[in-house]
Amino acid sequence: MGYKIPLFNLNFDEREAQAAYDTIKSGWISTGPKNEQLEQMFIDMWKVSYAVSMTNCTAALHVCCMVCGLGPGDEVLVPSLTFAASVNSIRYAGATPVFCDIIGPDHINIDPKEIEKKITPKTKAIVVVHMAGFPAHMDEIMAIARKHNLKVIEDACHGPLSEYKGKKLGTLGDCAAFSFFSNKNISTGEGGMFITNNEEMAKKARLLRSHGMTTMSYQRASGHATTYDILELGYNYRMDDIRAAIAIEQLKKLPADLDTRIKVRQRYVEQLANMKDVVVPFADNKEFVSNYIMPVVLTKGDTAYRDAIRDKIHAAGIQTSVHYPAVHRFSIYKDYPAVLPQTEYVTDHEITLPMYAALTETQIDFICQTVEQAVKEIS
Ligand SMILES: Cc1ncc(COP(=O)(O)O)c(C=O)c1O
Repeated sequence: MGYKIPLFNLNFDEREAQAAYDTIKSGWISTGPKNEQLEQMFIDMWKVSYAVSMTNCTAALHVCCMVCGLGPGDEVLVPSLTFAASVNSIRYAGATPVFCDIIGPDHINIDPKEIEKKITPKTKAIVVVHMAGFPAHMDEIMAIARKHNLKVIEDACHGPLSEYKGKKLGTLGDCAAFSFFSNKNISTGEGGMFITNNEEMAKKARLLRSHGMTTMSYQRASGHATTYDILELGYNYRMDDIRAAIAIEQLKKLPADLDTRIKVRQRYVEQLANMKDVVVPFADNKEFVSNYIMPVVLTKGDTAYRDAIRDKIHAAGIQTSVHYPAVHRFSIYKDYPAVLPQTEYVTDHEITLPMYAALTETQIDFICQTVEQAVKEIS
């Protein structure tokens, strides 16, 4: 809409429409059998013990913070180069976010050295964001967490089925959150998933998702329960079955979608890797990843220069974005000051190019030529 080549394209066809229609016709549309099926698919595909669907990833992150026992007085280490929800969820739990820098333009994930530097006696957890679906340095991060007895929450929003040394992202820390927002690899409009290998966390997450109630409407309607108790101050973080039915179709398509995205990225990297004044983050990655987005970082100029280049790309009919405006610079985070030179460099020089499985080779080549031309023309 608006651009010849949008940033993202829904991988939807008749299957999603049919799944939504069938669920509506089934007579059960709130959290029920489709959510159960979706949770089981996550358990099987992620090889994880527990999955609890959520209304969105922000809710799942809030639940992660609560099941990790975070609260007032606790400090939680988190990158600033992320979407605000990674940080806000810490505050919903009453804890204090402490911003950590990223490694640099070629690896835009949290820097383990920063984590070590910012640990205090109040530090209780680390929120790791796997940017663009590329794994953070989890061996180092988990070693630091074990040494200091910290919980690790993975914001794996960008990385469904991405791997780190043979394990799926989201299964390396204590618990993790995924998003099914429209532009994510799995799209349902809104939606999310909490996963963990910890039984206690899973039980608590399930309670918190639905008002702390011991049974759900579907269990009562299907005759498995007649009443309920309320054990926790919970929330309504449930996903409905219409969305879960769409998510099931999306998840079936995901492996093939990701295989195609790998080819899209390869073609991008072939042309961008040696382009003057441009760095491709994670260019040396060897892991299987989701390729949620296609970020590049300019090696010169300032924000105005970056924005002028974006304008040129937009004028050619190509949509771009910035991942992300750094969270610590937002007005509501002015009381959480942080010195984050790498984050500030990347947030001022990053451009996100279109990424989706249906991008054609001709389109990718056109995007790369447009970037090269824009970098040449603007100095
Ligand atoms: C890194 C990250 N974390 C959390 C979220 C929040 O996800 P949701 O929109 O499903 O709440 C997003 C969504 O854009 C994200 O990119």
